[in-house]
Amino acid sequence: MKKPNVFKEFIKDKNVASVSETSKHIVEKICNKIDFSEKKIIVEYGPGTGVFTKYLLEKMNQDSKIIIIETNKEFVENLNKINDPRLIVVYDSAENVQDILKVNNLSKVDYIISGVPFSFMSEDDVTELIKRSRDILNEDGGFFVYQVSSKIEKYLKDFFPHVSKDFALNNIPPLHVYEARK
Ligand SMILES: C[S@@+](CC[C@H](N)C(=O)[O-])C[C@H]1O[C@@H](n2cnc3c(N)ncnc32)[C@H](O)[C@@H]1O
Repeated sequence: MKKPNVFKEFIKDKNVASVSETSKHIVEKICNKIDFSEKKIIVEYGPGTGVFTKYLLEKMNQDSKIIIIETNKEFVENLNKINDPRLIVVYDSAENVQDILKVNNLSKVDYIISGVPFSFMSEDDVTELIKRSRDILNEDGGFFVYQVSSKIEKYLKDFFPHVSKDFALNNIPPLHVYEARK
């Protein structure tokens, strides 16, 4: 399966927000925080070329589900080629996550992984997306955010009592990685 060129998409679509996909090191670092031993519902905002999605599909058990929400058409067309009944690909904006879950007969999720560029969004949109993410997350769930900018930290702390952070240098550019829990 030929992957779309992230750099070319970045030139055409500013919301792609990165010239390359996230490094395997960071993908593993974040996904290692997930308990794959039982059925889990996972949502991913901004899967891009699917570097997290494919790793998660490898690790998840057969009863689990992953709903990925992406705004870039090229990426969505490529992600639709992944043939796995546990995967739901949605061509939409992460802001609509609650409606997307409803259409798929879901309301709560165990984990959310987000790579969407919060720094490009208005303050109101960031607040709304973080609030919606909190509302759909199970009590023992985890919300993982990786970002070039640390602007999101304040918003996460406004809505989640437990926010831990890390700065990962094994990526170009280095990324802030946050884990938010209720
Ligand atoms: C920094 S890239 C991360 C891509 C991939 N997850 C990775 O780790 O390499 C951000 C992705 O979010 C997508 N995106 C931007 N805004 C979005 C939104 N509001 N909802 C869903 N996806 C969005 C972009 O098209 C892009 O694929």
